[in-house]
Amino acid sequence: MIFKEALKKRELEINAQLESAFDRRLDAPDIIIEAMKYSLFAGGKRLRPILMLETCRCLEGDETIIWPLALGIEMIHTYSLIHDDLPDMDDDDYRRGKLTNHKVYGPATAILAGDALLNYAVETMLKGSKNLSGDELSRYIQAVRVIMGASGILGMIGGQVADLQSENKVIGIDELDYIHLHKTAALLEASVQAACIIAQAQPATQGRLISYSHRVGLAFQIVDDILDVEGDEETLGKPVGSDEKNHKSTFVSLYGLEASRVKVSELEKEAVEMLQPIGSRTVFLQELAHYICSRNQ
Ligand code: IPE
Ligand code: IPE
Ligand code: MG
Ligand code: MG
Ligand code: MG
Repeated sequence: MIFKEALKKRELEINAQLESAFDRRLDAPDIIIEAMKYSLFAGGKRLRPILMLETCRCLEGDETIIWPLALGIEMIHTYSLIHDDLPDMDDDDYRRGKLTNHKVYGPATAILAGDALLNYAVETMLKGSKNLSGDELSRYIQAVRVIMGASGILGMIGGQVADLQSENKVIGIDELDYIHLHKTAALLEASVQAACIIAQAQPATQGRLISYSHRVGLAFQIVDDILDVEGDEETLGKPVGSDEKNHKSTFVSLYGLEASRVKVSELEKEAVEMLQPIGSRTVFLQELAHYICSRNQ
């Protein structure tokens, strides 16, 4: 199957599985379920679950075990986007091609919808441990810990705080790397690491896969920063110029577009090189690195 078709197939599978996570009757005020689903089903690229599922497949791991973790990480990512767009954060009006959550439901409900997605993610992940026991259960809990760690103060939240603190400031490369590696790369790395734990990757293979995700994660945010300058709003589904409006420190604001593009292609090359010794089963992940580095949405 050609890469783009395989990517689409995964996206549709993930959407269907996310739908089924909401198909039971949830005895809660309708508005909160509606607000959660509004952002979750607005049409994201689903790259974190795709990365997790494809890493698992490349390691010949058990996909049925990993699915709840893949759904959980997408819910966590979606919550981070709802909060990122809030008036007291990036104050953006469009996301995934639609009005942002707070523009439709108001900031209070948007905050709660984000919180609710985070809680529902953990509940969904823990439910997935129901029929596991022994080593399989220990590995599963370890993978949940990795995901929650990467979402918290040592990962995405830490990066988001540093991102806010960097507004209206000139920062150095170390601080910028900290922001990118935490606010964005952490969840991409956790997707790969969770799959390595579930599929019991050999340490050397795991090391290579994690180095790959580290580079892809960093490149992912640099591309996001480039697209914030020269992307097309319609294609992106979110505003361009958000970083400039908020006086953010980004790779582009510090080093310019050309140096940013060079950095992305270096990272892509290194990411692919990390995978080559593992062999042909990493072809999808190699193509995914290329897609992430050359995307326009
Ligand atoms: C956007 O992530 C936020 C960043 C971490 C840069 P994505 O570009 O993966 O957003 P969706 O999920 O496709 O909407
Ligand atoms: C946010 O980075 C990363 C998150 C953790 C949500 P950005 O603020 O640059 O993401 P976009 O451009 O709004 O998607
Ligand atoms: Mg932001
Ligand atoms: Mg933002
Ligand atoms: Mg951005």
